[in-house]
Amino acid sequence: MQRVTDYLRQNQARFVRELCDYVRFPSVSAQPKHQADLKACAHWLAKHCQAFGLQARVYPTARHPIVVARTPGARQKRGGRPHFVVYGHYDVQPPEPFELWQSPPFEPRLKGGALYGRGASDNKGQHLAHLKAVEAYLETGTELPCDITFVIEGEEEVGSTSLEGFLKQHRSELACDAVIVSDTGMPTPKHPALTYALRGIAAYEVIVHGPARDLHSGIFGGSVDNPAMVLCQILAQLRDKNGRITIPGFYDDVQPLSAYERRQFKRLPFNEREYRKFLGVPRLFGERSHTPLEQRSARPTLEINGLTSGYQGEGSKTIVPAWARAKITTRLVPNQKPARIIKLVRDYLARLCPPTVRLEIKTGHGAEAYWVSPTGPDARAALRALKTAFGCEPVLVREGGSIPIVNQFKRVLRADTLLLGLALPDDNAHSPNEKFDLGCFAKGQRMSACLWQELSAVRRR
Ligand code: BES
Ligand code: ZN
Repeated sequence: MQRVTDYLRQNQARFVRELCDYVRFPSVSAQPKHQADLKACAHWLAKHCQAFGLQARVYPTARHPIVVARTPGARQKRGGRPHFVVYGHYDVQPPEPFELWQSPPFEPRLKGGALYGRGASDNKGQHLAHLKAVEAYLETGTELPCDITFVIEGEEEVGSTSLEGFLKQHRSELACDAVIVSDTGMPTPKHPALTYALRGIAAYEVIVHGPARDLHSGIFGGSVDNPAMVLCQILAQLRDKNGRITIPGFYDDVQPLSAYERRQFKRLPFNEREYRKFLGVPRLFGERSHTPLEQRSARPTLEINGLTSGYQGEGSKTIVPAWARAKITTRLVPNQKPARIIKLVRDYLARLCPPTVRLEIKTGHGAEAYWVSPTGPDARAALRALKTAFGCEPVLVREGGSIPIVNQFKRVLRADTLLLGLALPDDNAHSPNEKFDLGCFAKGQRMSACLWQELSAVRRR
């Protein structure tokens, strides 16, 4: 192990340069104009893995390719050796609005011990840390106690559509003891974290159709309903002033937090004033019965993500708009079923809609929340690896974001996922000026190097 950690220490500067090369690909999965960039990024990644001895392949899909890279020999009969899958994604969120970036999103810059660029934290830097740990084993000739297969996809930010089928097709090669995912966060650099729950999600688009075309509001206004007004009135009834969702039945399946979980929440650092300042809000919001940390990760929500209607240009335009549209998502907690929630939302919206307009609701498919025991042997092994690498006591957290594919790992591969996130709350994931802390990058590599020992030792006992 000493050789592995020495190798990691001695090669940090090169690893950072490689992360820069990786971040330079504008692999924006949501934008068709970047299709070729995703392909180039996948091929770069596969070549990068081959250079230090992984057997890597790029699998084309209907949309963006999947990269699979295995430690040598992992294909043969494993003879009782443990096998772990590391999952990550090389696709990134759209960088817009460009004008808010201090340096261009795909021209990585080093500043204040962090690397700035879209995808640096979510998720290129995080899974590159695992690749570098495995590189250290292979390049120093240190025997790995297990086989490892990396599955790095290009559609996470757009729903992982291709990966689901891929898992089914490659079920036997991907059969594993556990899946390791670093695509979540940690509260501070001194609080390395094992995430044991994620929220699920269901997405909706609500369209209120009014008159056949935009109308002169002086000539017709008053005699026809206004779709923008109707949409606002409907949406305003979806929650009360404390943030409780008013959709009948919405909370039916929500399980209360256990005393153990509430204790874990209490261990987390939280300063309300700083949090408020960091987010730029005059005051926090939410249900009285739960703390802000509980609200943002362990309670379900309904958010308006986008709202459009009428004239948005300069000056005024006196119209009754023909339509109004809202993009909405509900974040779900364990035990809430997306299909049931989608039906409840649909039914309630239909009930609230007046007969003066026509309501259209489009729904994407939903993802269930995720929950895995934070006290099992693998979880404890992961906590030991975190502690060794970061040099401080790790915390157990629930996260509010979603990684829908982890449910498929459970369903298709029958494997639990260990979520060992390396992102900091101020990494600006999905926002302008995304960054990845280079300390987290280095400690993440160290954590990964220890993890293979810890997880394999559990299996030898
Ligand atoms: N890395 C995030 C998920 C995440 C972030 C989990 C922070 C926990 C804490 C991932 O890349 C992501 O953004 N997922 C989307 C999923 C959606 C597009 C279905 C999300 O949560 O919005
Ligand atoms: Zn993301």
